Amino acid sequence: MYDLIIIGGGPGGYVAAERAARAGMSVALFEENCLGGVCLNEGCIPSKTLLNSAKLYRHAVDSAPFGVSSEGVSYDQETVVKRKKKVVRKLVAAIRSQMREAGVEVISEKATILPKEGETFRVQGGDESYESKYLIIATGSEAVILPVPGVAEALGDTVITNREILDLEEIPQTLIVIGGGVIGLEMACYYQAVGSQVIVIEMLDHIAGNIDPEMGRRLQQTYEKMGMTFHLSARVTRVDGGDVTFEKDGSEETVRGDKILLSAGRRPVSSGFGLENLPVETERGRILTNDTMQTSCPGVYAIGDVIGGYMLAHAASREGEVAVNHMLGIEDRMSYRAMPSVIYTDPEVACVGKSKAELDEEGRAYIEVELPMGWSGRYQAETERGTGLCRLLLDEEKKTLLGCHLLTPYASEMILAFGIMIEQEMTLDEMKRTVFPHPTVCEIVREALFQIN
Ligand code: NAI
Repeated sequence: MYDLIIIGGGPGGYVAAERAARAGMSVALFEENCLGGVCLNEGCIPSKTLLNSAKLYRHAVDSAPFGVSSEGVSYDQETVVKRKKKVVRKLVAAIRSQMREAGVEVISEKATILPKEGETFRVQGGDESYESKYLIIATGSEAVILPVPGVAEALGDTVITNREILDLEEIPQTLIVIGGGVIGLEMACYYQAVGSQVIVIEMLDHIAGNIDPEMGRRLQQTYEKMGMTFHLSARVTRVDGGDVTFEKDGSEETVRGDKILLSAGRRPVSSGFGLENLPVETERGRILTNDTMQTSCPGVYAIGDVIGGYMLAHAASREGEVAVNHMLGIEDRMSYRAMPSVIYTDPEVACVGKSKAELDEEGRAYIEVELPMGWSGRYQAETERGTGLCRLLLDEEKKTLLGCHLLTPYASEMILAFGIMIEQEMTLDEMKRTVFPHPTVCEIVREALFQIN
């Protein structure tokens, strides 16, 4: 009998397993595929490996304005994919040894929850049944397969998801991206940068979901200059081999691609593993939890993509810690107030805290400062024709930071600092007295703060 059984070995599950084991709990972690989950095997890490190669390539190709001449630059997708696989292998192995060192028992089987026996949870894995006092569901999410004629038939052939797109050994001449959200944009940017003609079809009238609309517009313009095509307010109605038909303003249009990436959202994986054997409440497929990650069934916690909402690896890890702390009787609650999010395009988009739209909806009074990234010396030194932007949103009365939105290289690495300012509710004076290293791109935030009295 274990103290804790965790189902799902992604950044939610394996982090929770390690924290619990290091705190002295006996832990079994079920993972039927590779440890690391979608994030490590077919998401965050492989895409960043690819995007880094594309960035190196573009730096070489676009180096002339910097006084560097480069000729005969070529791109070898096969080597890029091989390297990506090596990086993933290394990290999966690292998690495996991390689990071993922490004393977590990893069970490489599909877990099925059985009906409870008294106070004990029971989980079937292979031929064996395992028991525990607590249960964490960390089963993640899967790509939404659009219920549009022709999609299911072409799936795995011309129509691919985030999984297959990372393994293409040939750059498609034309790539159609259905859904201009986070996955769609990162992959669109990658393939456009390395030579594909990319066509993005997005249902909304803007790309990149809830990010600052001005940043989305600038990102779109940057990629349009590179030759990417965007069809906005366009709903895909039919797929036929490589043909994608969409409806826009009442009329139909068809575009043709060698590959079609389906990136129209992800849905929680909350069925197919016996969850119905426990009285766990769900809502449209997502498991409902409170701020200590407890579900409606005492002793059962849920973390990560399976609870919907942010669907971010770092949110899942933190939720795992909150769940374990609750089991250990340590006061801790999940807060999403300073949850950073990043789109790893070039330039990157990073934001933390509230957006203007959210504050407007809440009817909250705020101060807004918008500065072009050109105010940063380092940005000027390293960027040609950049249209980067920094937007800060502060509470009008308390002058505390409510939101920070950035469109610039390094944005992903900078955003943490501003999340801390939000979480700590630092006052304007305290933020102004913080020393920023010079010359750095993040100094833009200091410049922006000094626009306010
Ligand atoms: P998403 O929800 O970000 O974007 C999906 C887009 O598809 C939406 O803009 C939607 O309007 C559009 N769409 C839906 N149906 C459509 C149709 N019939 N025709 C045209 N457009 C349609 O979902 P995505 O990009 O699949 O990402 C899933 C999750 O993975 C997100 O929650 C994201 O947070 C996470 N993720 C995070 C990353 C990061 O942090 N850098 C990277 C990749 C994924």
